[in-house]
Amino acid sequence: MSNSDSSSILYPLSSIPSSSKITIPKFRERKKTGPKISMVTGYDYPSARFLDAAGVDAILVGDSLGNVVQGKSNTLGVTLGQMIYHAEMVVRATSRALVVVDVPFPYAQQGPRAAVRAAAQILKRTAADAVKIEGGAGRSETIRAVVEAGIPVLGHCGLKPQDIKLLGGYSLQRDGERLIRDVEAVQEAGAFGIVLECIPTALGKEATEFLKIPTIGIGAGPHCDGQVLVYHDLLGFGDSEPKHAKAYVRLGQIITEAVQRHCEEVRDGAFPEP
Ligand code: KIV
Repeated sequence: MSNSDSSSILYPLSSIPSSSKITIPKFRERKKTGPKISMVTGYDYPSARFLDAAGVDAILVGDSLGNVVQGKSNTLGVTLGQMIYHAEMVVRATSRALVVVDVPFPYAQQGPRAAVRAAAQILKRTAADAVKIEGGAGRSETIRAVVEAGIPVLGHCGLKPQDIKLLGGYSLQRDGERLIRDVEAVQEAGAFGIVLECIPTALGKEATEFLKIPTIGIGAGPHCDGQVLVYHDLLGFGDSEPKHAKAYVRLGQIITEAVQRHCEEVRDGAFPEP
């Protein structure tokens, strides 16, 4: 459901399995057909253009923007208006990737009515493809209501950053019985996939084998049906990344060095040239 045309693509998508738009049915199919699903967070027009042109299957407009864009210590302060503002830019830049937008705290926590209203606002105002809702068995009624309203939902189990005040920290979630109960309830409620965050590798494998819908891991080991990474971690904006992440380049360093060179050239008169 992108509103941009192919002229917004920076490079040809020749190396990518299919260059046509990733829809919910195609996303679900990948559990059976492969290849594994790549999902990366994106928060604005230029980052989404790069991600889409590089061939990611899905862009997550995550409420992690509270951390990596706003510089806050958690995601709780991110508003619905901010999610819509960022998602709208991402959708405008995207032709192929499925765009999923987080329902921010505390809409899903308030129950089905509030969640449906927030999710509907997101889809209506951004033209994104789906929303993501954190929560397990206790949130299945809410997820079911959103799906029944015609809004595709990606679940999110394991470590749920919106529960940070209850958890007291971001740590590995080891309770296997609880995880399986949660993912089963989320699948039953109609989610088209589930993000599994910060769980042991063996649990990631068990949940992936147990479920009929794709699992997208972040700190959940290599057996999930796909992986999601935060854009700023993948590109090395900071000096280091969380243990589960991988930086493919140190962009923070490259940007700093480029700006330092520019500052020097301004100071010594080398820029601009006559
Ligand atoms: O908000 C986010 O970016 C997320 C991912 C880390 C899965 O929920």
